[in-house]
Amino acid sequence: MDREEPNTHDQIPRPKPRRNYGFLRQKDKGAKPQSEFIRMNQSNANPLNLPPGALPLYSLDEIREHRKVDDCWMVFENKVYDITQYIRYHPGGNKIMQAAGMDGTRLFMEYHPWVNYSIILGKYQIGYLLRN
Ligand code: HEM
Repeated sequence: MDREEPNTHDQIPRPKPRRNYGFLRQKDKGAKPQSEFIRMNQSNANPLNLPPGALPLYSLDEIREHRKVDDCWMVFENKVYDITQYIRYHPGGNKIMQAAGMDGTRLFMEYHPWVNYSIILGKYQIGYLLRN
């Protein structure tokens, strides 16, 4: 058989180059660098000045009251976070506001399941979700 071997090398799908990735992309979206937010929190054990003790439970109705850029709560996997200070550092810009005052778990997982939100937002957890 004198059939030519296919050049499999050419058939491997190549990932698209991700230009403007990282810092540039953040600048484009007007977001401050993620590293700045992380550094800022390293030196501050309690950035929200939360009182010591067990974290309270919040209902979805209460959480919905906080859906503005200057007062924004969000739920991830039954934990309630005050993300107000994070918004301006979010690499995806204002898209995060789609889940303002709501349970953002599903949207978060749709956009970036590889992101570890609890490392970034750990100190901004204000409570737990009360399921009724
Ligand atoms: C549920 C609301 C959220 C939505 C709709 C959302 C949406 C997005 C979108 C669209 C991007 C892509 C930006 C781009 O490629 O230009 C992005 C990137 C990113 N977001 Fe979110 N986000 C949400 C919540 C969060 C939260 C709570 C965190 C962290 C605590 C976070 C951290 C990040 C990070 C680190 C990136 C960069 C990911 C990468 O480059 O691999 N996001 N987000």
